[in-house]
Amino acid sequence: MIIAPSILSCDFSDLKGEIESVSNAEYIHVDVMDGHFVPNITIGPVVLKSIGNIKKQVYDVHLMISDPTKYMIDFAKAKADIITFHYEALDNKSEIIKLINNIKKLGIKAGISIKPNTDVKVLDDYLDIVDLILVMSVEPGFGGQKFMPYSLEKIKYLSETKKKHNYKYLIEVDGGINDETIKLVSDAGVEVCVAGSFIFSYPRCERNELINKLKEY
Ligand code: DX5
Ligand code: ZN
Repeated sequence: MIIAPSILSCDFSDLKGEIESVSNAEYIHVDVMDGHFVPNITIGPVVLKSIGNIKKQVYDVHLMISDPTKYMIDFAKAKADIITFHYEALDNKSEIIKLINNIKKLGIKAGISIKPNTDVKVLDDYLDIVDLILVMSVEPGFGGQKFMPYSLEKIKYLSETKKKHNYKYLIEVDGGINDETIKLVSDAGVEVCVAGSFIFSYPRCERNELINKLKEY
């Protein structure tokens, strides 16, 4: 299991120290919110660029913004490794395909995400071209919410479909992941787990050991 600590729950007064405290994780999950697509505002490309200078990990950028097409290039320049946008943010299939292809043309992995109330089957048109699918297991906007178990059905569908057609996408889950819920998503077929409040609630000196344990699921 790949663990992606979400810095949304970290102490931003020492972002460098916080990122270094989770150095055993392969990914760092960066939640970008615009106060429009979701009712919260977080960080943008300026901050991503700064933390890029200290990075040893994959920067997994989750765009919860209304206009990912407009801002994608800024996150690419700020050295994102994966850029995931929301299905719900775009108007039609051609826009979605164009954005996926434009992200990939820059040598960046392209991800697509769905909110809890969106049917997983809407992604069928993109399964053969995306690098990652992010299933939201909470309503996007805030850390520390409770895991929604019906996301497990979506994960199972994506996992079975991937095996059946030999698709290449990674399956990621985001929201309410802890040492209990990770077992459920792992059994369902998840390959990348985002965890924010759970990891960052531990003292810095215990986080890397915790991440090693989570990787075993
Ligand atoms: C929520 C964000 C998540 C959030 C997860 O909109 O996308 O990445 O940080 O936080 P936890 O792990 O606390 O649910
Ligand atoms: Zn996220």
